Formats: sequence, structure tokens, C-alpha cells
Amino acid sequence: MVKLFGGVALVRPEESSDVEETVRRILKSHPNVKAILRYWGIEGEYRRPRIEVLWGATPDSIVYREYGVEFELDPASLMFCLGNKFERIRTAAMVRSWEVVVDMFAGVGQFSIPIAYHARPKKIHAIEINPDAYGFLVKNIERNRVSEIVVPHLGDCREVAKQIGQVADRVIMGYLHNTVSFLPYALDTLSSAGGIIHLHSLAVRGREGELAAKAISTAERLGYKARLLGQRVIKSYSPSKLHVAIELFAIKQ
Ligand SMILES: C[S@@+](CC[C@H](N)C(=O)[O-])C[C@H]1O[C@@H](n2cnc3c(N)ncnc32)[C@H](O)[C@@H]1O
Repeated sequence: MVKLFGGVALVRPEESSDVEETVRRILKSHPNVKAILRYWGIEGEYRRPRIEVLWGATPDSIVYREYGVEFELDPASLMFCLGNKFERIRTAAMVRSWEVVVDMFAGVGQFSIPIAYHARPKKIHAIEINPDAYGFLVKNIERNRVSEIVVPHLGDCREVAKQIGQVADRVIMGYLHNTVSFLPYALDTLSSAGGIIHLHSLAVRGREGELAAKAISTAERLGYKARLLGQRVIKSYSPSKLHVAIELFAIKQ
């Protein structure tokens, strides 16, 4: 299935073995696309996509619109998961106007921008380690006119969390690889009244429950009381793995 993303068509390897036929089929149904890209997956700490140009010229940046907000990004070097669309707006719908939010893996603003735009909380600290993604995060804050709410930070969330201090009512952990290892840093940012942590992770199919148990035992070992508020499967990631998100309330004892 072809996915249209800001005027660019994305196809998966299994759907594009015959390149000429794939290009012909897509141009027939979507004559205005600027490029057709084969998407081989994402890799590394910065979660860069591995892309092959099948047709056209990849634009330096595209603009993707979703539920009233606009994201600008370079589709050839930055990851943006269309399968998380509902989770982005669902998360924004939970945030209240008095909250301080910490977004530990901000990317180009996938969570920070819709939360700021729709929920208008007091402040969002948006942390991103990749300078290219950070550049688009800054652009997207301006583009969506939320600069009085979102404070961008360039750096490793483990370092930046210490500088931010104990201010958070809510922490977003939108990263899938060994996310629980970052939980101590998320807990460090919670205010003395405690807060809600949205932790995303990969889980082995059929063993989704292990994630919440591991997160709660990690929090309790660090002197927090923690309760599971919710858990859901966001999408299938591979034949053996699922993308799962849990919400925990945690407070220092
Ligand atoms: C997979 S993207 C996801 C973006 C968004 N949170 C989402 O769920 O759609 C993860 C982002 O986390 C960033 N990242 C990885 N390790 C990080 C760290 N230690 N501190 C801050 N950002 C980090 C990557 O550069 C990447 O932009």
C-alpha cells in the first residue's frame, strides 16, 4: 500500500519489487507526487530512515498536515511515523492547561506540537539529541505559533532532564528502543505532586504485560509509588513485535 506524505509517495520493499511497474502504478493514481521513495526501515540512535529514490527528486523538506497542525521535515533523513497519528491526538486530548510537560524524545515535534496547539499547557520542554531533527523542531514551533509554550532543548534527555529539574506533571517517552532504561531520568523530572509518564516501547507479541511490570518495578526500586493507568497496542512493528504504550502515575515516597 502506498502512503502519501507531504506530496511524496512512500512504498515498502515487499510492495515494490518491480520498480517500473510500481512507479507507473503510483503515477497513474497520484499524478502530482514529487517523488516516490522506497522505505527500507529506520536505524540508529537518531532513528534515521533508510530511503531509496525510485522516481523524482526528494525535496529538502515537505510539510505534512495532521489534525490542524503542520510538521515540516526532511523525509529522506528524519523519521515520522504515520501509524502513531491517533496516539498523538489522543495524548494531546489528555493534557490540561495547568500542566508542565517534558517530551524526552521530541523528534520534529510529533507530540510537543499537537499538545501545545490543542491543549495549550503552561509549558512543554521538548528535548531532541539530533541537530537535524532539532532544527525542524524549532521551525515547527514557529510554524504552528506555539513558541510561548514549547521550549526546545538540543541534547541528550538524560543530561537535559537534570537541568530542567523537578517540574513535570507529565512526561512523554516516544522512543521504542530500551525505553525503560531512560525511566529514571523521566522520574527525576516529576514534580513533588507526582505525574503521568507515557512510556512507549517495543514488546514481544503475547508478552505485552511485561512492559508495565518492568516499568513499575524500576520506579519502585527508585523510591516511587507507581500505578498503571492504561496500556494499549499502538501498531504492529514486525511479525514478532508490537509498539505498545503505557501510562503510569508515579510519585516519590
Ligand atoms: C523515533 S523518533 C520519535 C519521535 C516522537 N517522540 C514520536 O514518538 O513520534 C525518536 C527521537 O528521539 C531522539 N533521541 C534518541 N535518543 C535521544 C536522547 N538520548 N535524548 C534526546 N533525544 C533522543 C532521536 O534523535 C529521534 O529524533
